[in-house]
Parts: sequence; C-alpha cells; structure tokens
Amino acid sequence: MCGSVRADDEGSAVVLAGWVSRKRDHGGVVFLDLRDREGSVQVVAHPEDAPGPHAVASEVKPESVVRVEGRVRRRPEGTVNPALPTGEVEVAAIAIEVLTESETPPFPVEDGVDVEEVLRLRYRYLDLRRPEMTEVMRLRHRVVGAMRRFFDERGFVDVETPMLTKSTPEGARDYLVPSRLQPGKVYALPQSPQMFKQLLMVAGFDRYYQIVRCLRDEDLRADRHWEFTQLDMEMSFPTERDVQDLIEAMFVRVWRELLEVELTTPFPRLTYEESMARYGSDKPDARYGMELADLTEAFRGSGLRAFAHVVENGGLVKGFAAPGAAGWSRKDLDALVQEATSRGAAGLVWLAYQRSDVKSPVISHLSPDELGAVASATGAGDGDLVLLVADQPSRVAVALDGLRRLMASRLGLIPQGQWSFLWVTDMPLFDWGEEDHAWVPNHHPFTAPASDDLNPETAKARAYDITLNGFELGSGSIRIHRAEVQRKMFDLLGLTPEQAEEKFGFLIRAFRYGVPPHGGIAVGVDRIVMLLAGTDNIRDVIAFPKTASGVEPLTGAPSEPSQEQLDMLRMRFR
Ligand code: AMO
Repeated sequence: MCGSVRADDEGSAVVLAGWVSRKRDHGGVVFLDLRDREGSVQVVAHPEDAPGPHAVASEVKPESVVRVEGRVRRRPEGTVNPALPTGEVEVAAIAIEVLTESETPPFPVEDGVDVEEVLRLRYRYLDLRRPEMTEVMRLRHRVVGAMRRFFDERGFVDVETPMLTKSTPEGARDYLVPSRLQPGKVYALPQSPQMFKQLLMVAGFDRYYQIVRCLRDEDLRADRHWEFTQLDMEMSFPTERDVQDLIEAMFVRVWRELLEVELTTPFPRLTYEESMARYGSDKPDARYGMELADLTEAFRGSGLRAFAHVVENGGLVKGFAAPGAAGWSRKDLDALVQEATSRGAAGLVWLAYQRSDVKSPVISHLSPDELGAVASATGAGDGDLVLLVADQPSRVAVALDGLRRLMASRLGLIPQGQWSFLWVTDMPLFDWGEEDHAWVPNHHPFTAPASDDLNPETAKARAYDITLNGFELGSGSIRIHRAEVQRKMFDLLGLTPEQAEEKFGFLIRAFRYGVPPHGGIAVGVDRIVMLLAGTDNIRDVIAFPKTASGVEPLTGAPSEPSQEQLDMLRMRFR
C-alpha cells in the first residue's frame, strides 16, 4: 500500500496504485503524493532519469487514479518529513499509468477542510477519501469487531431479526412500508428488535446478540439519527447485575483494544433519583463539579415573590455555583437567562460573588439568611457566579442541566481524555407523557416493575441506563415474564385487552408456552464511535447519513414514486 512503504523497503521494486493527492513541480522534477487508505507516499519523476513517467506526472490532475512502478529510496538529507510515516522514503518512478482521470473535486480531499456539510454529504465518497474520515470508518469497524469477538467468546448467538415487521414501541414514530401483496396494509421498520429478542428467549436461545440497524422517525439531535445501529443483547435468567457486569466487561475490552486504556470496574452507580437531584439529568456528566443544590426550603415565604410563589405551589428552587464566572459581562449573563428560558424555565436569577459583595438584579429582595443559605448550599465563594432556577421540578432539571453543561464548556472545566462511565439505576416505571396526556413507559412496556408498586407516580422499574461523559450509551431492563403482570401493565398504559391483543398478541401468546425470566440491554454503536472519535456530530461516524431535513444529499432520497409503483401498491398521495 502507498501508506505502508518504509525505510526498510529501501531498494525494493514496488507497484503502487492510488489517488494523486498533491503534485509539485520543483525545477523540472515532479513530485506526486500518492494516497490510498493507508496513507500517502512521495513519488518522484525526474525529467532525465525517467522522461516517460515525468511527462505523465506533469500532466496528471489531482484525485486521478494512477499506477506507479518504481524503486524505493531514502529521501536526500534534509528532505525527510518526520510528520509522515513514509516521510523517510520516496519512490523513484520507472513507469506511471493514469488509470482514470479526475475532474477537479468540489472541495480539497484533505483533513480539516472547511466546507458545508451538505456538500460533503453530496460527495460523500470524496469526503470519506479524506484520511480523518477513513480513520473514523475503520475505528467503527474495529469497535464492531471487538464487540462481536467479545460476545462470540461468551456463547452468545447472533440471530437476525426482521426489518419488515410490526411496530415496536420505543417511543418514536414508525417508518412504514406499504405491502404489495396485502393492499392497504403496512409493515413497520423496527425501532429495535425488542420483541423478537424476547421471543428468542422463549425459543430457548438463552444468550442472543446482534449488531442491528434500528429505524426511528424522531426529532434529530447531535447524537440521534433516524437509522442507527445497536449492539443488542438479551439473556435468560439474569439479574440486573449480570447484564451490567457483562456490558462493563465489553466496554473494558473495546477500550483496551481500541485505545489501550484500562477502564476501572465496577462503573459507579447512581439511582435515577440521585442523578436527577444532583445533576438534573438522567445522563449526568460527572467529569466536573457544579452539582445542583436544593434551596427550596430557604426560599419558602421569601421576599422574592416569584420564588416564594413557586415554592408555595409545590415547585423547586435549585441552583449551582459556576467557579470564576462572577465577572461575566451583562451581555453574557443575559445570554444565560435566554438559555434558561429557551429550555422552558420561567427565568433565571444570577448572583455574582465579588469580594465580600454580592451583585444580582434581585439583591434588594433577598434577606441575609437567604444569601447565606445560597452560599453555603452551592459552596459559592469569591469570584463565583450562582445560577438559580425556580419552577416545576422537570423544568428546573432541564434548565439547570443545560446551564451546567454550557458553563462547564465555557469555563473549560471538562477534563480531556477522561472516560466517565456511570450506571443510572432504579429508573421510574412510568413518565407522564405531556403529548399523550397519559402515563407512558419510561423504558418500554415490557420492563419489569421493581416491586408490587404499580402506582404510576411512584413505581420503579428494573431498568438501567449506561452513560458516558454525559451521553446515554445504552438502556436495558429485566423484562416482565408473567402474563398477568404484562396484562396489568398494558392496562395501566390505557390499552384495552383488544388493543393489547392487536398490537402485542403474538408476544402474549408466546408467553403462554413457558418463558424463562430474561433481560438485556441495547447500546448505541454510533454514539460509542462518536465519543471514541471525539466528534460531537453523529453524522461524522455514519458512512452515508441524511441531513436534518430528512434528505440523503448523495442519492437525493426520498424521491417521488412512479405512478406504476403507486398503482402496484394501490396507493395514492393526498
Ligand atoms: P433504547 O430505545 O433506549 O432501548 O435504545 C438503546 C440505545 O440505542 C441508542 N439510540 C440511538 N442512537 C442514535 N440515534 C437514535 N435515534 C437512537 N435511539 C436510541 C442509544 C440508546 O441508549 N429495546 C431497548 C433496549 C433494551 O431494553 O434492551 C431499546 O431500544 O445509545
């Protein structure tokens, strides 16, 4: 390969094929950088020693594919490039053949290009030719390989599950595919293999895994895509701890193979309640402090009417101290208020602790006791900025979580190279679905309750999430394996027996024939690669992604179906 020629190869005859990444003409001698997936090497065509190759090299355009025959030699003294793995050598061309010519590419095929993402996606094959992108795709390949080896060694069986199937309830919209043979009916693309992996446990597979594509029509975020890949697993007769230990061991293996980093196990555990109380998030970033302090009691009956009012109505007052931010400009502080309100909070109160003085727009309404309570609960000292939000608990959490992450990044508090894995346990069984105006499963409706308590307000689930550096990497649970509990669950979710039968009849039926207690987890492969690759855009780790508007710029999908296709499906668009 072009990128693997080394000083040891001195004197060898080589045949290389690759793309011309650069061409330089130094006083008649033409230098080509020839690139393949392993890297690039310098090819030299001298006008007198090799007039034929020199003529070809002089004319060739960048990104053309050429075949070079030549001999490896050491670069002359003073021209060694220590930044390149092939930098000690060059290849003196004996013959050069242009296999295909390239047009001028729409952007330079090199690392660190500053081009619009849509253009990169339209010409994704050129984008992927850039070494940093090639590297990410190979990283992804290695992650998946390490996972496969890990599960193979432990007796897990890889079973493929259908793509054209029935709706799986993971909380997103389905992608539907009309059936030609069953006019008027649709398949749903799987949001996950959840129900099939449970059926595999009924089938006696005992240990299942799959690296599987899942499809969800949901609002995109930096760590979400419509088509994404899960490492999905399920096992029979496990405890929560069995699943968690296994997944920890898998991460240890992946980190060791990919980064030569030894992770410490067991990973720390936080209950959901503790996580929400301390970080306002169920995927907390514990690499830095600024934990949230609860000041609700301190503001009961406060002269700050807005706060007192929230407390009277069962809301919370919480906040944290951002170290060294007391001197922020009015403009920066206004931007923080804006950030809090854009996240749904009624407002944000800031207090700047400068020397023995406290500055705040509401200072005249605060008593010395309240100021003292704020300082002691948040640990604020000289130079710190305290941010307080008073609202309903969920809004307080969302706003402060966002502000905490923002401040950590703005203040440079996030340590690099630290892998902070965390289990979040004792998840609630239900969430209140604002859109559905009903209780919805916090995980999915097959998750086992932790006890007999099925009160939607208080019930806990045998569910767990694994998080890394503030991202949710995976979710799993021990499942319901008793038909009457499953029926009760559907009932609580407002499904009539008929609706439950229509949606999940096949699973309920299977559970009549001897079902082992079982549980598992799915972790997002794209997210893992994203964090390993150090990017904050999930599209960077997907070979052919779509844009936020749902378009695949490369192929132009989605496109209009032909009349013939519509007729065949007996479909008409309104
Ligand atoms: P869940 O829906 O939590 O659980 O998904 C598991 C993991 O899959 C990843 N993930 C995504 N990654 C990228 N884009 C998306 N749109 C996306 N949605 C989810 C996340 C997430 O943690 N069947 C259950 C698992 C189980 O109970 O075993 C499930 O799918 O990393």
